[in-house]
Amino acid sequence: MIWLVLLACDGAGVVDSSEPSPCDSGPDVTWDAWANGFFATYCRSCHSIDTPDRRSAPEGVDFDSPSDVRAFSDRVRARVIDDESMPVGGGVYPEDLVLLERYLDCSI
Ligand code: HEC
Repeated sequence: MIWLVLLACDGAGVVDSSEPSPCDSGPDVTWDAWANGFFATYCRSCHSIDTPDRRSAPEGVDFDSPSDVRAFSDRVRARVIDDESMPVGGGVYPEDLVLLERYLDCSI
């Protein structure tokens, strides 16, 4: 019954509850209250299944729903927050970058 021993020792499920998560306090940034509007404003003119002109945005890279954003969350973080290379030309308000990071960290 080696597998039982391995299962018991893999450490899964061990959570150190003494460390408060940064998501425990601060604003609750939800899809309905904020992120839906953010992606509509900044991204969906190119990245949507419904856009009439993708302007060369890759097929399938859409931000129409929370699960779309979840699927590309690492790339959204990299392009919008780290590189500021999306949307094309930049121009996201700094306070929106803060809320986007919070959304990606805590709400998806
Ligand atoms: C004016 C059209 C346009 C807008 C608006 C736009 N994009 Fe893009 N996006 C593109 C194009 C064109 C590409 C392909 C070229 C590239 O990767 O730079 C792309 C590629 C991407 C990719 C896939 C490439 C990768 O690096 O993984 C992601 C993710 C992305 N965009 C995220 C976003 C997000 C998030 C927003 C809104 C904050 C946004 N884009 C707004 C046109 C746009």
